[in-house]
Amino acid sequence: MNEIILAVESSCDETAISIIEIINSEKKSEAVRILAHEVESQHASHGPFGGVVPEIAARDHLAKIYDIANTALKKADLKSDQLTKIAVTMGPGLIGALMVGVLFARGLATALNIPLIAVNHVDAHLAPALLLPNFSPKTDLKKLLNLRTPTFPAIALTVSGGHCHLSYLSDIKTKKILGTTLDDACGEAFDKVAKLLGLEYPGGPEIEKLALVAEQNGFSDNYQFPFKLSDKENIYQFSYSGIKTAVMEIIRKETGIKKGKITGKDLPFETKQQIAYSFQIAALKQLHDRVANTLKNYPDVKSIFIAGGVAQNKKFRELFSNFQQEVVFASPALCSDNATMIALQTIIEANIDGFQNQPFPKYVTK
Ligand code: KG4
Ligand code: ZN
Repeated sequence: MNEIILAVESSCDETAISIIEIINSEKKSEAVRILAHEVESQHASHGPFGGVVPEIAARDHLAKIYDIANTALKKADLKSDQLTKIAVTMGPGLIGALMVGVLFARGLATALNIPLIAVNHVDAHLAPALLLPNFSPKTDLKKLLNLRTPTFPAIALTVSGGHCHLSYLSDIKTKKILGTTLDDACGEAFDKVAKLLGLEYPGGPEIEKLALVAEQNGFSDNYQFPFKLSDKENIYQFSYSGIKTAVMEIIRKETGIKKGKITGKDLPFETKQQIAYSFQIAALKQLHDRVANTLKNYPDVKSIFIAGGVAQNKKFRELFSNFQQEVVFASPALCSDNATMIALQTIIEANIDGFQNQPFPKYVTK
């Protein structure tokens, strides 16, 4: 039986609803139709604060979620009673923001008397890279899309504003986390450095744009920020506080401002470009370095899957093109938080031994 799943994502600053149809064969899910992919970002609300304000995020989700779900149903040409399951991000995330999504999803599942599936947000980020790496909402909505069969064993790298996870996957369902960040997540470091340079929130795309201007102007890695870690304890861990402090020290040196807040307004535009370029390359080289370490210790690895907001970065994609293993990035449209990845993750969780024979492992209700 085909399933029609409505998925809800509200863990941070995107309110997202997707509706997908899962086409099942006898044993497993083989294709999908993404019937609706609605993502409403709250960047404008958080921008003035230079980062996500949890209380504002929760209120904004609450104000919009009902309308976004109705829009999704309308775009999918469906009535709510045609849905067969609801999926929702259970965490990790901002608690108030998560509660809005979970309560909305639970209310809907209860009213329709259909199952509610709880999904882990960090696991879900990888699902588009594993199953549907080429999806574009501009051209692929409502089309029948075959699911990709990923090759294992694999390494997975999930790099977002809240997470930096390096894992080893022996198969689609078995993930061992090798390393996480000791301090800031990679995307968080992009956001914080952008703030020091006086750029808009979210900082990742702004840094990428500025670094590109630097490259077009012929600048190279002037500042050579440190990206290597001492590797005494865990050769798979990440750390971004050192690079961030190095950026702060350079800005103080360049502006002569020894104390107090740094806003970037006293920096010449060319210096900003050079800092953005050198920071971006150091941040990405650390990711590359950790993956190279992993490959030395896991020579059986056949593929590298990369996902999360930072995976949209073009320099990131360029830097990772020299591995011998197959490198698969999530499609840019499914890198940042969205609900299609939440719906796709239910396929991974249900496909253990065949979609129809196995109950979903993580029902919240039913
Ligand atoms: O996955 P995501 O939407 O949310 C979390 O789960 O955290 O990731 C958002 C993060 C932000 O820190 C943002 O600055 C970063 O992804 N990001 C980028 C780029 N686009 C978004 N970082 C670097 N380069 C980009 N082009
Ligand atoms: Zn995320």
